[in-house]
Amino acid sequence: MTDFIAGLPKCELHLHIEGTLEPELKFELAERNGIELPYASVEEIRAAYSFDDLPSFLKIYYEGMDVLRTEPDFYDLAMAYLRKAASQNVRYAEIFFDPQAHTSRGVPFDIVIRGLRRALIDAENRLGIKAQLIMCFLRDFQAEYAMATLLSSLPYREWIVGVGLDSDEKGNPPVKFKAVYERARQEGYLLTMHCDVDQENSTEHIRQAIEEIGVDRIDHGVNSLEDPALVEAIRARGLGLTVCPISNGYVTDSMKADAIRRMLDLGLRVTVNSDDPAYFAGYVQENLVALADALSLSREDLVQLERNAFEITWLPRHVKDAYL
Ligand code: HPA
Ligand code: ZN
Repeated sequence: MTDFIAGLPKCELHLHIEGTLEPELKFELAERNGIELPYASVEEIRAAYSFDDLPSFLKIYYEGMDVLRTEPDFYDLAMAYLRKAASQNVRYAEIFFDPQAHTSRGVPFDIVIRGLRRALIDAENRLGIKAQLIMCFLRDFQAEYAMATLLSSLPYREWIVGVGLDSDEKGNPPVKFKAVYERARQEGYLLTMHCDVDQENSTEHIRQAIEEIGVDRIDHGVNSLEDPALVEAIRARGLGLTVCPISNGYVTDSMKADAIRRMLDLGLRVTVNSDDPAYFAGYVQENLVALADALSLSREDLVQLERNAFEITWLPRHVKDAYL
C-alpha cells in the first residue's frame, strides 16, 4: 500500500510552514544569521522535541523559528518544504503562515510574505507543484493585534487566499475573533480556523466556528463527532475537515484513526494532512501510510481521501476539476 500511496496524486491543506523547519535548516539559518543555538547537533535538537500536548509543542515551535530573519530565510524554508512535498507527489498545497510569530519579534510582514511568495512561484515553475498561502492569526494574542495584522496584509491581498486561526486554543474561542473574520470576509478572504483535537470546549468551539463565524473549512474538527447536530451542520454545508493523524498522536493520546474512519463512513469531506512535519516526524505520505496501516484502508478509501482534499481546495472550479 505504501507504493500505491506514493503514486497517488496528493494534496496538502493543513501545513504550517514554520512547522516544516527541519533541524538541518535550523542550523544553516542560525549560522547564516550569527545566532548561537543551545544545541550542538541535529540529534540534540530532535531529542529536545518532547511534547505531549498543544502548549508543550507550541513552546518548542515558537522557539525554533527565531532563526528565521530575512527574506531568503523564508524563501529557503518554503522551498525546502515544496521540494519535499513534490518528491511525495503532492500536486497542490495550501500553506499556513503565522505572520505574528515574526512581527512580534521584529521581522516585518513584508519580509515574511515576499520570501514565501517567491518560493511558491519558483516551485511552480521548476517543480510543477502549485501552492497558495493562508495567513493565520495567533489566537492567544489579542483580537486587536489580529485585526492590525489583517489590515497590514491588504497590500498583499492577491497573494493570500484565506485566513486561519491557530496557536493555543484554551480560553481563546472562535468568537473572540468575530470582528476580524467579518472584515476578512469583506476583503474577499476565505475562512478557516483550528478547532484542535480534545480541547476544553471543543464542541462549543466547532459550533461557534460554523454558526457564528461561518467558516468555509475547519482545521482538525475531530470532536464534531461527539455531537450529531455538528455532524449534520458540517455535512449540510459541505465543510472540509483537515485532519492530521500523526500530529494527533503527539498532542493527544492517539492518532484518532477510528474517528477518521467514522468521518469517511459518514461521507464527510475528511482529509489527511501533516500539520508540523519537522516536529511530528511525518509528511503527507507518512501520515497516509500510518493511517492506512491503522485502519487497513482500501485503495478506494485512499482515493476518496485525496478526492475530498482536491474537492475542498480553495482553487477555482475549473482548476480543481483538472486535478479530479
Ligand atoms: N495547533 C495550533 N496551533 C498550531 C499548530 C497546531 O497544530 N501548529 C502550529 N500552530
Ligand atoms: Zn495546525
